[in-house]
Amino acid sequence: MTVPNTAASTAARRGANEVPGCHGGLENLDEEHAYWLDDIDGEVPRDLTGTFYRNGPGRQRIGQSQYGHWFDGDGMLCAFSFLDGRVHFRNRYVRTPKYVEETAAQRVLYRGFGTQVPGGFWKNFLKMPANPANTSTVWHGGHLLALNEGGKPWKLDPADLSTIGEYTYDGGLQRADVFSAHGKVHAASGDYINFGAGIGGFGLSGPKPCLTIYRIRPDGRLAERKQVPIATFPFCHDFALTDRYALFFIGSIVFGNMVPVIFGTRSISDQITFDPSIPMKVLVVDLKTLELVKTFETSPGAMIHFGNSWEEGDEIVIDGMFTDNFEANQTLIDVFNPSGKFGGGSYMRYRLNRATGALSAEKVTATESEFPTFNSAWTGQRNEVTYTACSVKNGADSFFNAIQRITQGGDAQVLELPKGLYGSEPLFAPRAGATEEGDGYVLEVVYDAWSHRSELQIYRAATMAHEATLKLRHHIPHQFHGHFTPSVFMH
Ligand SMILES: [Fe+2]
Repeated sequence: MTVPNTAASTAARRGANEVPGCHGGLENLDEEHAYWLDDIDGEVPRDLTGTFYRNGPGRQRIGQSQYGHWFDGDGMLCAFSFLDGRVHFRNRYVRTPKYVEETAAQRVLYRGFGTQVPGGFWKNFLKMPANPANTSTVWHGGHLLALNEGGKPWKLDPADLSTIGEYTYDGGLQRADVFSAHGKVHAASGDYINFGAGIGGFGLSGPKPCLTIYRIRPDGRLAERKQVPIATFPFCHDFALTDRYALFFIGSIVFGNMVPVIFGTRSISDQITFDPSIPMKVLVVDLKTLELVKTFETSPGAMIHFGNSWEEGDEIVIDGMFTDNFEANQTLIDVFNPSGKFGGGSYMRYRLNRATGALSAEKVTATESEFPTFNSAWTGQRNEVTYTACSVKNGADSFFNAIQRITQGGDAQVLELPKGLYGSEPLFAPRAGATEEGDGYVLEVVYDAWSHRSELQIYRAATMAHEATLKLRHHIPHQFHGHFTPSVFMH
């Protein structure tokens, strides 16, 4: 599909005093940059040292075509390196076969989650969707990885973001294995726990769905993997982690008939639906054995992203973003449609009682939210504060336009961005040497639709007081997830 460049019309809207929408922030950033940020409002804290990585689709168009889904844009990592009160920026695409070959050809060559290759039946017949390596990133065990749940990780150089190659943990990830974008580091052991939703074998009734759970030691070794059989192929994007358990919500967003996908006549996105007759199941997996130990059931719905999770006596508490539909998929299929709205879900807290089997759920805040984050050193332990990207009605609410800081007591502080500025996943970065949960900063990349440039905003986490805004020389296309490490890798 060919559509006009939305950023190009920003100036016209500004002339008409119309608040520009978020869609210009999805235009390509084809160029790769590396420079010190010098357009600064405020002061960069000198006790903030480390690297803030982010990942997301850097382009939605190739040649004259637009990809068929936001999820199919090629992964582009950004690195903000903090050192002695200065910040260096770099962005670089992951050199997957899809990126390399489509860049050379300037046209769509690979199928995606929602993209079909133009040219008819044979172009898609029995072709697997490509892995765009575009969803998240992690630095663990000496490896910087670009992650997408449809494939294996891609390993990058942490300093210059050059691509090293697809990464299998020395063969620990096998041929058909996939690896989610939402692995978590266990606070006490330092293990990186991740999973992949896929096929665990074939039976008389066809392929058997399963979750494969992986344990990666702090030295970067994939030490254990185990399959947990499940009844249906789930849309399972994220999970929650306590000290002793991994929690998987198998919800009401389901894959329909996959035969047309295999034969190439329809995309995966075409075959995903929300089925309100399917209750949501919660699978409790013991981290010691990687075995399923209990299953809970609750009302229909789906959890896309999780906040923290922890244990209180017999109870497991799980924070996450709940949705009761999958209408957002229509927006994601046609990202430049000016009427499309990128929304969030409801911030919910579930309590599962392992002894009685009881399950309860309560809404934590009323504001539409997504991308819940917290100080990741508190993963699996009761934390005090969660941050979210949220949408408030202000006449420019087509994307996330506010940051929310929510305490355990339910106090929600909403920090609204000026109209025409659109936010992203806020991420906590600890102050150098910090030992308290809230001792650090909140980092957020914001797209300024007025100038079609992005900026990095820094807030003091305890108060959300503004510390600094650093303007980039260009925009960064709206991204998904990031990761902060106190290490600095600049050569
Ligand atoms: Fe995600």
